[in-house]
Amino acid sequence: MRTDGGVKRVAGADLVLYREGSSEFYVPDPNRYCEGGLPSKDSPIAFAPNAAVNRSILVLFHRVNRISRFGDVFCGVGARAVRLHLEAGVEESVLSDVNPLACRVARMNVRRHGLKAQVYCHDAAIVLASFDLDAVDLDVHGSPVPFAQVAFRGVGDGYVHLTATDLESLYTPAARRKYLLEGPLQERDPELEARAIVGTLVRLAASVDVGAFPRYCLVEPRLRVRVCLECRRGKSYANRALENLRREPGVGYVWSGPLTDERTLSKMERELDRVDWDPEHVEEVRKALGSNILSA
Ligand SMILES: C[S@@+](CC[C@H](N)C(=O)[O-])C[C@H]1O[C@@H](n2cnc3c(N)ncnc32)[C@H](O)[C@@H]1O
Repeated sequence: MRTDGGVKRVAGADLVLYREGSSEFYVPDPNRYCEGGLPSKDSPIAFAPNAAVNRSILVLFHRVNRISRFGDVFCGVGARAVRLHLEAGVEESVLSDVNPLACRVARMNVRRHGLKAQVYCHDAAIVLASFDLDAVDLDVHGSPVPFAQVAFRGVGDGYVHLTATDLESLYTPAARRKYLLEGPLQERDPELEARAIVGTLVRLAASVDVGAFPRYCLVEPRLRVRVCLECRRGKSYANRALENLRREPGVGYVWSGPLTDERTLSKMERELDRVDWDPEHVEEVRKALGSNILSA
């Protein structure tokens, strides 16, 4: 990814204009605030350059599943909302973050492009409960579980995208608290991690009478699991989703159905031929679609 122009100072933070996909937005200077593709401890806003593939896959998904209203409720600099407006035809968005500087920069980024977007310096749960959206993105640092029910209630018939980054906790007694499992996973198994996370999310959706079905699941081993769930409101959908759970001894209920919808994946792969992204990035995304998407 490319950074352009000089450094801009906002509230003591050094920002640079950054290009990702076919969008540009301000981010904390990666030369100063990044370590190994992740935000450094002193970064004023959480922005991970190494999540570019993850964000591009979100863009591809909504190029083939069009939506008009998007909630970027853990927005950071607002990269996901900006990219979906500019690259996937999103018309309106609501962004939120509890970091006031993130909100200020996200506001700069959406205004710079004249997007129809509102940025709130609120807890994600408040925004999820207040707006009618077609898709929401819970790009949390940690477990998305505390925010899942309110997201499923808010979206109803739509899409919920979630990131889990505390994968280590699945292997410790914290798995009971963070993922509502019976107990921790025993051996390193990225697929079982994804199935356990999806299983818990599907049960949370069912508790508010929503059926949630995975559309794709991207696993970045030891870093993130990313899940996209298509949601359908209604008890019968919720019951149908629950039929896909199986009990894994010692762990609890895990998702046993497909983690990725093959037709959606093929469409996303074809869509890659239509984007005007840096060819190197296109190849990275193609590789991730081929090897990091769990389709079993
Ligand atoms: C992983 S970062 C988001 C990165 C961003 N989505 C991106 O793709 O660049 C998580 C963000 O969530 C914010 N955050 C943490 N707890 C929150 C909460 N309860 N409600 C809203 N935002 C929160 C943090 O300040 C941080 O900016």
